Amino acid sequence: MTPEDRRIRLDAAIAVAHEAGAIALQHYRNLGALTIVIKGLQDLVSEADRETEDVIKTRLTTLFPEDAFVGEETGADGVDGHRGAWVVDPIDGTQPFLLGLPTWCVSIAYVAEGDIQVGVIFNPVTQDLYTAVRGEGAIRNGAPMRVNEAQLLSEGLTGLGCSARTSAQNLGYIAEHLRDAGGMFHRCGSGALTLAYVATGQLIGYVEMHINAWDCLAAILLVEEAGGRVSPFLADHGVTGGGRIVAGGPGVYDALVELLPVA
Ligand code: IPD
Ligand code: CA
Repeated sequence: MTPEDRRIRLDAAIAVAHEAGAIALQHYRNLGALTIVIKGLQDLVSEADRETEDVIKTRLTTLFPEDAFVGEETGADGVDGHRGAWVVDPIDGTQPFLLGLPTWCVSIAYVAEGDIQVGVIFNPVTQDLYTAVRGEGAIRNGAPMRVNEAQLLSEGLTGLGCSARTSAQNLGYIAEHLRDAGGMFHRCGSGALTLAYVATGQLIGYVEMHINAWDCLAAILLVEEAGGRVSPFLADHGVTGGGRIVAGGPGVYDALVELLPVA
């Protein structure tokens, strides 16, 4: 990819994130009108998720017909390993969204040539825009982002992601070891946004036993371009899979890895 290819896709992703975010925000301001469907244990969805993804998919596949698309709500379309792929979560943090809590976002990643090339995360409630382009750094609302310089887990808060896909035993293991190291956990209900907080340095790290690609690919690039380290999620799980993730500042990365039970 050329820098120009990345720039065109960054601009498109930002425009689409704003448009989709405005649609989701309208629903958020009128939650009583939504029909909530229970997808599984602690896993909710409403027509807001589907409508928002439809807009993103239509816009991006019209602008870039040669690209594949993977979305949480509509699945994989055209992924063959050779084409670039958009990987999208229309509303990450569906549970806080449906509860009227402000920690949810639109997450858009572009993956090509075996790497995440562009990442865009937009929180419509706070209007915070987080972007990253491979090799060009990470930016929040126009200012460069930098991960936290903490050297110890006791020096800050660690994001601890959890869904029904994580066993109580594994959750307990991580929490116990984090507390033993003098650390403290933070969970806001959006893996993408929590990882963005790692890129800004507000959190020192993030760990989750199982997260899906659409939740984390955009945010992984934010953390990497903000100077952080991230486990090899894309190499291990691709654009449609899911699994463990560890992300954090270089000073605490190894300690974060040790929080997870041995695979
Ligand atoms: C979930 C959230 C949560 C994370 C889960 C995700 P959803 O996505 O990002 O924080 O722990 O792994 O599945 O259901 O809100 O789109
Ligand atoms: Ca999600």
